[in-house]
Amino acid sequence: MQREWLERFQEFVARKTRLAETAPLPPYRTELNDPDENALAVGNAWTNRLFDGPFYLSPAATPLRPACSLVFVQSSDGNTSAADPGVLGGGNTDTHLIYEGLSRVAADAVLAGAQTVHGSEVMFSVWHPQLIDLRMSLGLSRHPVQIVATLRGLEIADSMLFNLSDIPVVLLTVASGAEQMSHAVKLRPWITLLLMETPGDLRAAFERLRSTGIARISCIGGRTLARHLLDAGLIDDVYLTTGRNTGGEPGTPLASAPWRGGTVVRKGGTGVEQGVIFEHLLPCGRR
Ligand SMILES: NC(=O)c1ccc[n+]([C@@H]2O[C@H](COP(=O)([O-])OP(=O)(O)OC[C@H]3O[C@@H](n4cnc5c(N)ncnc54)[C@H](OP(=O)(O)O)[C@@H]3O)[C@@H](O)[C@H]2O)c1
Repeated sequence: MQREWLERFQEFVARKTRLAETAPLPPYRTELNDPDENALAVGNAWTNRLFDGPFYLSPAATPLRPACSLVFVQSSDGNTSAADPGVLGGGNTDTHLIYEGLSRVAADAVLAGAQTVHGSEVMFSVWHPQLIDLRMSLGLSRHPVQIVATLRGLEIADSMLFNLSDIPVVLLTVASGAEQMSHAVKLRPWITLLLMETPGDLRAAFERLRSTGIARISCIGGRTLARHLLDAGLIDDVYLTTGRNTGGEPGTPLASAPWRGGTVVRKGGTGVEQGVIFEHLLPCGRR
């Protein structure tokens, strides 16, 4: 079984790499650049050219927990839910430079809600050789730890992400979800259960992740998980791309309650991506 997943993973890596290498990536142009003095700047010549400057990461509000960012694309009318977020019109540069790139290149782990991990061939990493080089230069493992949040429990046997023995997985769950998955997890020593007493116990869970060496997390959504993290005060940065298309599921903004604080960076797409807006924002109360 594992050999079969390994072969599928090799094909998946080849496909992801090909897509990342061949996609035309129109560069962004800076409209605003106002980082805090304690922000960490990451980039190499290739990313700096396409992103038109360094990409900033905020430190965690407290050293007791990992720094955590949200990365989202929304439609031009502000919706985030879509089976394929590509339809929201964020474009190739968002997909390959931001989403599968700068937002996670320095992350120890990628965190996703159960509804975002759909389909059997899913695994969250960086694929463009320039981004792999950048990640390696930061002294990180080739692939981030995969953290999946589920309350009810998930089908472990059906998804590639849970079946690659070299890539650690953490399941963020509660006792009932853990029970549902316990047999499958026992068979897979690379999967760890991170138990919360209640779904609202995210802060304590984050502190436990920090104690295992996870210092930076890129949370890729969706909005249900994002809202819980924002409410718990666990988000340090929001990377939000506004696409050129209307659509997505109506009434699905990143969060319903106000969350926007200061703007660190704003960039605009160029060429065929003219009209795309990338913003690096802080959650309210942070600046
Ligand atoms: N536009 C974008 O950038 C973007 C990004 C990500 C996703 N999406 C889209 O958004 C949709 C999915 O978003 P969504 O809001 O429905 O779902 P989601 O946030 O991906 O996942 C929600 C699930 O996460 C688990 N969960 C929620 N809170 C939790 C907590 N405190 N602790 C542990 N587990 C928790 C629960 O899993 P169980 O149900 O297993 O209990 C819950 O049903 C999809 O259409 C996806 O394609 C868009």
